[in-house]
Amino acid sequence: MLTAYDASFASVIDQAGVDIVLVGDSLGMVIQGHDSTIPVSVDDVLYHTQCVSKVCQRAMVMADMPFMSFRDVPLALENATRFLQEGGASAVKLEGGGHVLPVVEALAKYGIPVCAHLGLQPQYVNKLGGYRVQGRDKGAARHMLHEAKIMQESGADMLLLECIPSDLASEISQSLSIPTIGIGAGQHCDAQVLVLYDLLGISFGKVPKFAKDFLAESDSIQAAVAAYVKDVKSGVFPAAEHTFN
Ligand code: KIV
Repeated sequence: MLTAYDASFASVIDQAGVDIVLVGDSLGMVIQGHDSTIPVSVDDVLYHTQCVSKVCQRAMVMADMPFMSFRDVPLALENATRFLQEGGASAVKLEGGGHVLPVVEALAKYGIPVCAHLGLQPQYVNKLGGYRVQGRDKGAARHMLHEAKIMQESGADMLLLECIPSDLASEISQSLSIPTIGIGAGQHCDAQVLVLYDLLGISFGKVPKFAKDFLAESDSIQAAVAAYVKDVKSGVFPAAEHTFN
């Protein structure tokens, strides 16, 4: 999985063999220049999902449900429906723990594939006070494992795990039958995701530990994305230096 927000990059990613293109609310930072994902609206994600889905021929397009866009079941159904009907997405992703289970359940019931998102949840930055590794203490790790299981039971089709210790990601991945997708969660997840601009080495601000500039070792953007696909599939990426313990 890789993020994209426009047709040109989405087309490169699609052709390179990435399985899922995520129109992430990270667009608030990498496209709009905000310092968090909080200002991103449903219309913003919808617009970028339309741009991306027009050109994706083989990859699944997943739209990220922005802050407060799924705060109750009717609103979540309405917004997810827009991402599928107007945006051309085939799935949605949403952050949150136990309190979003009714939303996951309702989306699943109505045939909307859902990727849950545990670990570091950037929409909670104002509560967390920053972007930090999650699940390091025993209690938090047990709680996350429990939430992962109930997400699956409620109908989630995939689970994204962001910035958690590699051993915890491994335990969660082994406990679930749905695929896990890691970012800063080590090499034992079933799949990996990166923000495209981190892969191209053009992220501004602090470069996260889990990011790798694939363009530095490639002679084109196409080759950099292809190298990411190859290294994820062969287990070369993420390496120990991209992983939290
Ligand atoms: O919005 C985003 O880009 C994300 C990342 C974790 C991939 O959710």
